[in-house]
Amino acid sequence: MLAWMAKTARGHNHNQISNWYLAGMLNTQLAKTHSDFADRNPQSRLHYDEARKFLPGGQTRSVLTHAPFPLAFASGSGATLTDVDGHTYIDFLGDYTAGLLGHSERRVLDRVVLALSHNTSVGGVHPAEATLGRLMCERFGIDRVRFTNSGTEANLLAMTTAVVATGRKKILVFEGGYHGSVFYFANGSAKWNAPFDFVIAPYNDTSAALQVINDNATTLAAVVVEPMLGSGGCIPGESAFLSAVFAAARKVGAVCIADEVMTSRHGRSGMMQLLGVEADITAYGKYIGGGFSFGAFGGKAEFLDQFDTSPESGRASPIAHGGTFNNNLSTMTAGCAVLGEVFTADVAEAHTNRGDEFRQAVASVIAKHDVGVSVSGFGSMMSLHALASPPQKPSDLVTRDPELQEFLFFGLLQRGVYIATRGMMNLGLAHTDDQMAATLDALSDVLGSLQQ
Ligand SMILES: Cc1ncc(COP(=O)(O)O)c(C=O)c1O
Repeated sequence: MLAWMAKTARGHNHNQISNWYLAGMLNTQLAKTHSDFADRNPQSRLHYDEARKFLPGGQTRSVLTHAPFPLAFASGSGATLTDVDGHTYIDFLGDYTAGLLGHSERRVLDRVVLALSHNTSVGGVHPAEATLGRLMCERFGIDRVRFTNSGTEANLLAMTTAVVATGRKKILVFEGGYHGSVFYFANGSAKWNAPFDFVIAPYNDTSAALQVINDNATTLAAVVVEPMLGSGGCIPGESAFLSAVFAAARKVGAVCIADEVMTSRHGRSGMMQLLGVEADITAYGKYIGGGFSFGAFGGKAEFLDQFDTSPESGRASPIAHGGTFNNNLSTMTAGCAVLGEVFTADVAEAHTNRGDEFRQAVASVIAKHDVGVSVSGFGSMMSLHALASPPQKPSDLVTRDPELQEFLFFGLLQRGVYIATRGMMNLGLAHTDDQMAATLDALSDVLGSLQQ
């Protein structure tokens, strides 16, 4: 280590040297962390080795990949998860926002069990579908809604609606945006993206976005934007940016699509409403299904009624939107309990405030340790970053220190807190004050260990 330090010290300032020193320490520490992790989790390792024989990478959700292998979980209760080796963690990932309710919300589970005891795969219309439709329209201030099986599909159908409505092809999306597995814009448009004609503008950069809109004024079908980049690092959108983009898009005849798959949990009616910006169509997903596969897109009748295939509509060529599981009984029933009983507008509003307070507490813990870590986010969604100050734009994420980022994940895991490897943390309804305090203590301990 001393020889390494002497070699790197020549011609460099103190900060660079201490950064390199830290990086060297972290590398050594991470190798040990990986081997300790493997020793501590033999059953997860066995699961991984077996699963890889049949599933590429050992699982079917790429985001769960990390070295040396991901934990396999056996059960969950309230805000905790227990893995197959018997270790219990405070679950601060909350299934990337889908697990908002925690793991044992009886009001949802009991209703679903009862519904499934009457029927399983209905293959017809049933009351829970229309009830959830009404709950969503009332809650989010939309005229009509249609259900899908995932947020990816919700965005796919929202974009398709815009393409059919306008007769145009181009879709404006933003750098760092994620609208589903085939709508991934972390580094330009991913090569596996669905073959829409995308144009990309920088997030939170109004003049650049307006330029792209004006350059494509006659061909732009839609703009799709998250009010906060969720997968893209919990970077909140600025209200002025979002409203200017939607105003300019409307002016050229494009449809304004908000992707609130993650952010509809904020405030009484979602984050866009909190920011004072109105979409034509909004995509929903995640927690609304209460743990069951869910997606929906809804908005103004003039767009959604293109799907009206009823005899009354008199439409010559409505859009036919099939989907065996669109109105599946378990999701529809769970969704009714989620929006109607568990996560009411009052609860959502209070939870957003609780999330803001917790995020500020995280920031205060970080402020006590000078180790180049920061937190970003909004309400109950946040992300830890191996960056001295919170990212303002997606390209800032590239400058995160990857070793330090990984160290944050493993450091918290070793202290009993499970978060996303990329740093995302989501406060759920089941977290107790004690679990929140324990998480802050764990974070303080991890950051303190970096300082030593
Ligand atoms: C903003 C956003 N849109 C869409 C999706 C895709 O949703 P799903 O994973 O249900 O397909 C996600 C998933 O993380 C998301 O964060």
